[in-house]
Amino acid sequence: MPAEPGFAGQPPGSVGRDGWDVIRSTLFSDQNRPMIERKCTMAETASLPRSFFAAQQGSLPVSLKLHRVEKRFGGNQVLRGIDLDIPAGQFVAIVGKSGCGKSTLLRLLVGLDQPTSGEIALTTEQGADQVNARIVFQEPRLLPWSSIIDNVVVGLGEGVEAAKGRYAAQRVLEEVRLSDKAGSWPSELSGGQRQRAALARALVSNPGLLVLDEPLGALDALTRITMQQLISRVWRELGFTGVLVTHDVNEAVYLADRVIVLDQGRISLDLTIPQAHPRQHGDAALAGYERQLLEAILGRDA
Ligand SMILES: Nc1ncnc2c1ncn2[C@@H]1O[C@H](COP(=O)(O)OP(=O)(O)OP(=O)(O)O)[C@@H](O)[C@H]1O
Ligand SMILES: [Mg+2]
Repeated sequence: MPAEPGFAGQPPGSVGRDGWDVIRSTLFSDQNRPMIERKCTMAETASLPRSFFAAQQGSLPVSLKLHRVEKRFGGNQVLRGIDLDIPAGQFVAIVGKSGCGKSTLLRLLVGLDQPTSGEIALTTEQGADQVNARIVFQEPRLLPWSSIIDNVVVGLGEGVEAAKGRYAAQRVLEEVRLSDKAGSWPSELSGGQRQRAALARALVSNPGLLVLDEPLGALDALTRITMQQLISRVWRELGFTGVLVTHDVNEAVYLADRVIVLDQGRISLDLTIPQAHPRQHGDAALAGYERQLLEAILGRDA
């Protein structure tokens, strides 16, 4: 996957060219490497239900294929032959002990880092050049000098007419129930509100792949539940492929069609969660899957 910078020209809004480099390294990379960003040809989304998103033409959902993916940092072999096939539109959660390689795997998926060996292929039904991927991190990484709406406009990339960009940002802020904060500074928002703004920024381009690295990890329990419901809703409405890293098995079984347990660089369990969406927190069947996952992560004594 080529790691080409996607922001070559003048960005939307009021951010100058120099500022754009800062934005790129702040938002899309944790190692000053640009995230892959390709412009997508919009596809018909006739099957989507009513909402702002449904009225838009979204990116095609992305399918992912990993073949014998390995990642080593010096002498530290972090991923040891990952084979994974994620069909377009599926929501997958990745769980596992701290340090087992979850974030490393996510970074490989979106091109922030390259595997030491093996292959990763992202594509859509109209080919790999239609891939539109976005990532949300645990910390919102909002630009402190920009209003919330301008932060969301950033997610559209370059070359979008300012008025159209702000219109799209306004609509997506409504979806995440944050339109009343459009003109606020990030410092004026609560932690949960900031993370909703980060989600809006990731969603405003209507991505075909949304990758989330513990996006709710810093939030309190009640805010987490609200955010989980929000993520579930926008996933059902937009139809993107989702890959979520989380420490919370309850969150994993609430959101995902499939939960993957990583252990010592390998997939130790690939569990299908067949329950229909939307799901209920506290569902007894989901509790059984939770138990199974905890045993897989912690051992039989869990
Ligand atoms: N850029 C890097 N350079 C060197 N080692 C790294 C780098 N990134 C990750 N590692 C190592 O890879 C291993 C896996 O790290 P990773 O961040 O993927 O774990 P994780 O499963 O996401 O953990 P956590 O749940 O704590 O976030 C760790 O041993 C870490 O030290
Ligand atoms: Mg991590």
